[in-house]
Amino acid sequence: MNHFLDIHQTDPADLRQIIDNAAAMKAARNGRPRGAPDDDQPLKDHMVALIFEKPSTRTRVSFDVGVRQMGGQTMVLSGADMQLGHGETIADTARVLSRYVDMIMIRTFEEQTLLEMAEYASVPVINGLTNRTHPCQIMADIQTFEEHRGPIKGRKVVWSGDGNNVFASFAHAAKQFDFDLVFTGPEPLDPERALDGLYTTERDPQKAVEGADLVVTDTWVSMHDPQSARERRHNQLRGYQVNDALMALAKPDALFMHCLPAHRDDEATSSVMDGPHSVIFDEAENRLHAQKAVMRWCLGA
Ligand code: CP
Ligand code: NVA
Repeated sequence: MNHFLDIHQTDPADLRQIIDNAAAMKAARNGRPRGAPDDDQPLKDHMVALIFEKPSTRTRVSFDVGVRQMGGQTMVLSGADMQLGHGETIADTARVLSRYVDMIMIRTFEEQTLLEMAEYASVPVINGLTNRTHPCQIMADIQTFEEHRGPIKGRKVVWSGDGNNVFASFAHAAKQFDFDLVFTGPEPLDPERALDGLYTTERDPQKAVEGADLVVTDTWVSMHDPQSARERRHNQLRGYQVNDALMALAKPDALFMHCLPAHRDDEATSSVMDGPHSVIFDEAENRLHAQKAVMRWCLGA
């Protein structure tokens, strides 16, 4: 069994196999009429716990649907409703859940919670986002880029905005999938130092996007950020909005991505989000396919 905790902790050959499987499963699924039976049931008789300590639409629904499509069943659990949210240790929770379920996906705040869950669980644990990383999102994003533009190896990816958890997983992916990643954003919102060496920085967003194959952004205020930071961050990040003028400086066939949910007309304009470069809803769909491939890899199924 394998945990899927972070992209930099997963072997590049395994990551490639997951992306290729995701694409194959997507083709098989989308080639069948809606509602037609699916004989590919690797999670038959498997129960998967989906734990959320933060809100979610895509992660929650795509994991739930993905498990069911593969023949398994799910329990969606709110961290606040579990004893975990009322003082029971993560280690005890992990050991108890491992007696009931075959896999655990957790969205949490501190990375330490995820790591402790993985340490004490005897079933695979999947990272559904922490304050530091969001690997499942970036697996879907790599799948999305490659289905539109071919191999991501050697391409130029530009991140404009906050150096946050989603950026961190892009930085890990840049090394594992061998693409160039440029960060453009204000110095106070630089990515954490642990990511140094995985990307380059260009403060001027217009220079940064020159020659970009992919432009990416995300919310300016993440779920773990204090809401009191909102106004300051808007002032810091206004110049890094992805709008039509900025996209016009990237390659003519550049793609635009956003993991969603978005604050439209803050970090990116609706004209970009709904425009010809945008693949935001393919990204959202591919969460389903990429995570199905991740779950198979975790279980060796
Ligand atoms: N992109 C993403 O993880 O979305 P949710 O917060 O809706 O799960
Ligand atoms: N950076 C965002 C991503 C949401 C999917 C957050 O952590 O809130």
